Amino acid sequence: MQIGFIGTGTITHAIVTGLLHTGAPFEHLYLSPRNAGIAASLAARDPRISVCETNQQVLDSSDVVCLAVVPQIAPDVLRALDFAARHHVISFIAGLPIQELTQMLGPVEAIVRAIPLPAVAAGKGSTAICPPDGIASRLFSPLGAAVEVADEHRFDALSAVTATMASFYAVLDTQAAWLVRQGLDDASARAYLAAYCVGLAHRTTESDAPFCALVQESMTPGGINEQLHRALSDKGAYAHYADALDDVLVRVEGR
Ligand SMILES: NC(=O)c1ccc[n+]([C@@H]2O[C@H](COP(=O)([O-])OP(=O)(O)OC[C@H]3O[C@@H](n4cnc5c(N)ncnc54)[C@H](OP(=O)(O)O)[C@@H]3O)[C@@H](O)[C@H]2O)c1
Repeated sequence: MQIGFIGTGTITHAIVTGLLHTGAPFEHLYLSPRNAGIAASLAARDPRISVCETNQQVLDSSDVVCLAVVPQIAPDVLRALDFAARHHVISFIAGLPIQELTQMLGPVEAIVRAIPLPAVAAGKGSTAICPPDGIASRLFSPLGAAVEVADEHRFDALSAVTATMASFYAVLDTQAAWLVRQGLDDASARAYLAAYCVGLAHRTTESDAPFCALVQESMTPGGINEQLHRALSDKGAYAHYADALDDVLVRVEGR
């Protein structure tokens, strides 16, 4: 695959790092010149990575074109380019539906949306893909988990669920602060919870068991996990979470 990137910022840096880190196969990567510093540093890592002089040069050199500019400038940047029917376009641009992309990309027939998460850099990132697409799946599967969905409502739902990152860390922060109140020092509380958290995350990768099975597995009848889970359930903590996600989805879908 000759893969081009229009926009060489945070997410392109993470994807290229992941491709190199995991040894995923590619023939050549063509980067657009901005951000110049990031593009130069990536090109210095592997002879199969080049920085082009213009965005058009990226297109002319590539079969697969990844769109990685911010939404605010996307219409101007994309409309200025001559796409060809042979291009297979994978857009990471938040909030830009396939219908609008189709109007901007002229003769391109294959247009896919994807949301690669920054952990793709370490080969541990989830990537939502819509619609299902063999090329995008082959590109992102080695970088973690590639999940393909048939319609943009489900894609938006996967996008909405990425709003949980800050609250995930806030739960850890709450636990760490509580440990400190019990007399532990910050470093010990942090180290303990970080490894604890990695252990729990690892458990999710060991089987396809639904999360509710892991909830049950973690609770000895009458034990302390059952006690805490019940206390949070009774206070509506989980129901609150689902309501908050509903509100995020409304925003993601621009409703
Ligand atoms: N970051 C994430 O976790 C993530 C995850 C999934 C999807 N996305 C989506 O991916 C897209 C990029 O996000 P990002 O976080 O990578 O943003 P970013 O770090 O701001 O990167 C965007 C890059 O576009 C460059 N750029 C500006 N004008 C350009 C032009 N005319 N032609 C080509 N490149 C140009 C910028 O270069 P300068 O620095 O020189 O201005 C910047 O480096 C967004 O639409 C976002 O919604 C991001």
